[in-house]
Amino acid sequence: MSAGTSQYRIDGPSPSVSAEALEEIGRRTFIEAFGHLYSASDLEKFLTEKHSAVAYSAVLNDPASAVWVAYGDAGDLVGYLTAGPCALPVDNMPANAGELIRFYITKQSRGAGLGGRMLERALSWLHEHFDHVYLSVYSENIKAQRLYERHGFEKIQKYFFMVGEHADPEFIMKRMTPVD
Ligand SMILES: CC(C)(COP(=O)(O)OP(=O)(O)OC[C@H]1O[C@@H](n2cnc3c(N)ncnc32)[C@H](O)[C@@H]1OP(=O)(O)O)[C@@H](O)C(=O)NCCC(=O)NCCS
Repeated sequence: MSAGTSQYRIDGPSPSVSAEALEEIGRRTFIEAFGHLYSASDLEKFLTEKHSAVAYSAVLNDPASAVWVAYGDAGDLVGYLTAGPCALPVDNMPANAGELIRFYITKQSRGAGLGGRMLERALSWLHEHFDHVYLSVYSENIKAQRLYERHGFEKIQKYFFMVGEHADPEFIMKRMTPVD
């Protein structure tokens, strides 16, 4: 079982982390969580487009976006979360909508409360900057859906998320409760 949450340090919403380090943790955690779902070519196309240092550099330099990273006690990067303006295909999306965009923790650091802590920090930031908060989650990722539901999100819509040429059924969720 993972150790307690206090061993982790969270840095954000403007962390001192390189785009290259985000590329590494982004690729690694996506492969760890979902890599088995895709063909090698779909996976590589997606990672090259979406998890490149160039893509992360754009996020780090975007004043409308935020990034949180988590370090283990050895100073190793164990997770990251990104947020910003909502780019999901939400039906009749209201103005000033934000999105919890990416949220990944390495396998060995999951289940110790770190995700909950990162989520709370990101949700506070999102509600400070946006009037509505959305996210999307793989339809079979029940564990993440449960975590989001505990933090006030509800499923509102289905859509397909593309990984290369592969279409994943996903739920769009909206946060229904304000921050405490
Ligand atoms: C989703 C994710 C970011 C959540 O992070 P996490 O650190 O595992 O989250 P938490 O530890 O806060 O909560 C997860 C579970 O651990 C439990 N938990 C919380 N604190 C705990 C503690 N101190 N000790 C043991 N378990 C604990 C929670 O109750 C929760 O249980 P449940 O969801 O099974 O009911 C992480 O699991 C992950 O990276 N998953 C793969 C990628 C993914 O699915 N990303 C989301 C894409 S939409």
